[in-house]
Amino acid sequence: MVSQYPAVYAQWQRNPEAFWAKAAEAIDWIKPWDRVFDPEAGVYGRWFAGAECNTCFNALDRHVAGGRADQPALIYDSAITGTGRTYTYAELKREVVALASVLRHNGVGKGDRVIIYMPMVPEAAIAMLACARLGAVHSVVFGGFAARELATRIDDCAPKLIISASCGLEPGRTIAYKPLLDGAIEMAHHRVERCVVLQRPQLGCELIPGRDLDYADAVAREIAAGANVDCVAVAATDPLYVLYTSGTTGQPKGVVRDNGGHMVMLHWTMANEYGVRPGEVFWAASDVGWVVGHSYIVYAPLLAGCTTVLFEGKPIGTPDAGTFWRVIAEHGVVALFTAPTAFRAIKGQDPSGSFIGKYDLSGFRTLFLAGERADPATLDWAEAKLGVPVVDHWWQTETGAPISHNPAGLGLLPVKHGSPGVPMPGYDVRVLDDAGHEVPRGTLGNVVLKLPLPPGALPTLWNADERFRQAYLAEFPGYYKTADAGIVDNDGYLFIMARTDDIINVAGHRLSTGGMEEVVAEHPDVAECAVIGIADAMKGQVPCGFVVLNAGVSRDGHEIEQEVVALVRDRIGPVAAFKTVLTIKRLPKTRSGKILRGTMQKIADREEWKMPATIDDPAILEEITLALHERGLGV
Ligand code: COA
Ligand code: AMP
Repeated sequence: MVSQYPAVYAQWQRNPEAFWAKAAEAIDWIKPWDRVFDPEAGVYGRWFAGAECNTCFNALDRHVAGGRADQPALIYDSAITGTGRTYTYAELKREVVALASVLRHNGVGKGDRVIIYMPMVPEAAIAMLACARLGAVHSVVFGGFAARELATRIDDCAPKLIISASCGLEPGRTIAYKPLLDGAIEMAHHRVERCVVLQRPQLGCELIPGRDLDYADAVAREIAAGANVDCVAVAATDPLYVLYTSGTTGQPKGVVRDNGGHMVMLHWTMANEYGVRPGEVFWAASDVGWVVGHSYIVYAPLLAGCTTVLFEGKPIGTPDAGTFWRVIAEHGVVALFTAPTAFRAIKGQDPSGSFIGKYDLSGFRTLFLAGERADPATLDWAEAKLGVPVVDHWWQTETGAPISHNPAGLGLLPVKHGSPGVPMPGYDVRVLDDAGHEVPRGTLGNVVLKLPLPPGALPTLWNADERFRQAYLAEFPGYYKTADAGIVDNDGYLFIMARTDDIINVAGHRLSTGGMEEVVAEHPDVAECAVIGIADAMKGQVPCGFVVLNAGVSRDGHEIEQEVVALVRDRIGPVAAFKTVLTIKRLPKTRSGKILRGTMQKIADREEWKMPATIDDPAILEEITLALHERGLGV
C-alpha cells in the first residue's frame, strides 16, 4: 500500500486547527470547544479551549454503552507469579466506579491530586481511571524509585490521598512497598491524610489505623452497596495527570497532561500511527510508571476500544527469553511496543531466537520500539527472527505521543535503520545550531519543535510555568527544545543521536546524572564528584561515578565506593542501576572549572576524543584512563 503519510502530513500543515478539529470528532465531548486552539491561553496556547469532557467516559463508559461491554478491555498477565486475569469493559468499569466511590468518600474531588505508587497490577490502571472519572489529577510514581524520590513528588503535587500496594515483585526479590511509602510520608512536608493499600498475597503489610484503608475491603463495600459514580465534567484544558520526569537537577519536572488534547492525540495515533483497530489486542511492555505506560498501556488502547495487555514480568528470566512470544500468542497481540533494551536482553539469552518458533505468532503484525536509540543490530535481529516490520519511533514524556514515527496505519514508509522515522502531524521538526540558525540537511544540531506543540503535549510544568519557559522555550525563541541532538536527512528522516543535557537513558529509563551527583556529593568523605553515562551492551547506558575524597580521608576507598553505591540506591532507587564508582585523585576540568564529563565519557566508551583546548591539566585525563582500565572499563 502506498503510504498516505505525505498527503496527511501536508493536510495538517495546511490547516492544523481543521486537522485536529476533525480528529476530535472521534471523542465524545460534554460541551464542544469555543476555539480549537487559543493562542492567548496558557504559556504558548491551549487546545480545545472551552470544551468539557471526561477521559474515563471515553475510555470505558462509551464502549460499554456502545457494544463492547463483554469485550476484553484489559488482560493482566503476570509472568512473575504465573497468574492473570481478563477484565471486560463492563468489569473494568465496575472496578473503576467502585474505587472512584472509595476516593470520593475520602474527600477526593475534581482537581485534587492522588499519587499512585504501585507495581504492575491491574489496580494501578484502575486507580488512574478512577481519578480520571472524578476529575482528580493522578501522579503515578514508578515502583523502582526510592522513598526520597516519592517524598519529593508528594511535596511537589501535594496529594490528598495515595494509592499503593504491599509489595512489588522483581525476579528473585519481593520489594516491600509499605516501608518506602511510610518513609516517604514521614520525609515529606506535605501531610498525607489517607492511603488506600492493596494487600498482595506474596507479602502483606500492616495498615496504620486511621490513615490506611485496605483496597480490597473498601472496593468490595462499594460494590456491595451498588455504588455509582458518574463521570465528572472537566475542562478539556484541565489536568488529567502529572508525571514526573528527570530534569537536570534532583528536582524532577512535573509534566502536565490535559484531558481533551490528550484524548484526541492518543486516539489518532492508535489508528494512524500504530495501525491498530478497535477490538484488536495491543501490548505496550513498559510500566505504568513511565509515559509509555500512561499513553499506551492505559489510555490510548482503551480510548480506541482495543484490548490492552498489562504485563508483570521481564523479557528474560520470567521464566525465560520466550515470555514475550508466549504473551503475544496466548492473547492474540497484533502489535507490541517496547524498548530496544528488552530485545537486547532477549537476543543476549537466545541469540538464535529458538524460543520464537515454539509459539504461534501468525496474528502478530508490527513491533514498535522507542524510549532510547534503537541500534541497527537489534533491529536487524528482531526483523529477521520475527518476520514483521520493526518500527523505531521517537518521543518524550513531555510530548505524550510520538514526535516522529513510521506510521503503520497510514501505510509504512521505507524503513531506514537508525532513524526513528519522519515527523508526525502536529510536529514541525527543525534542527538548529547553538546560535539558533537552521542547519543544512544532514548536519547535526539541536532538534527543536516549532510552537505551538500539538494537542496532548505538555502545556506547562506543574505549578512551574517559569521553569517550563526557562527549561524548554527560552533558548530557541519560538521553539520547544527537545534536548536531543540529531539530523534530518535529505528524505526528511530524523536521526536522534544523543541528549544535549545530562540526561542518560538506562534500559529505556530516563535518569539525570546531575541528580545522582547531588546524592553522591552527600557522602561525608566525598569532596567532589562526577557521574557520566557509559555504554552498556544490554541497557544502552549505565551510570558511572567518579569521586575525589576529602583530604585526610584514610578509610578504605573500596568501602567508601560501596557506601556511595548504597546511598544512590537508597535515595534514588534501584532503577538508577548505579553500581560503579571509581575513586580518583582529581577531576579533569577546564580552566574555568567546568568538569569535562563529555571527554570522560568518550574515554570510557573508547570513542575518539581530542584534548580539550581549555583543559587545566592534561595529565588528569591519563589518570582517568588508568582508573577506568583498572576496572576493565574503556579498554
Ligand atoms: N520496583 C522495584 N524495583 C525495580 C522495579 C520496580 N518496579 N523495576 C526495576 N527495579 C529494579 C530491578 O530489580 C533492578 O534491581 P537490581 O539492581 O537489584 O537488579 C534495578 O531496578 C534495575 O532495573 P532494570 O533497569 O529494569 O534492570 P533489570 O536488569 O532488572 O532488567 C531489562 C533489564 C532490560 C530486562 C529491563 O530493564 C526491561 O525489561 N526493560 C524493558 C523496557 C522498559 O520497560 N522500558 C521502559 C520504557 S518503554
Ligand atoms: P522519556 O521522556 O523517558 O520517554 O525519554 C525521552 C528521551 O529518550 C528522548 O529525549 C531521547 O533522548 C530518548 N529517546 C526516546 N525514543 C528514542 C528513539 N526512538 N531514538 C533515540 N532516542 C530516543
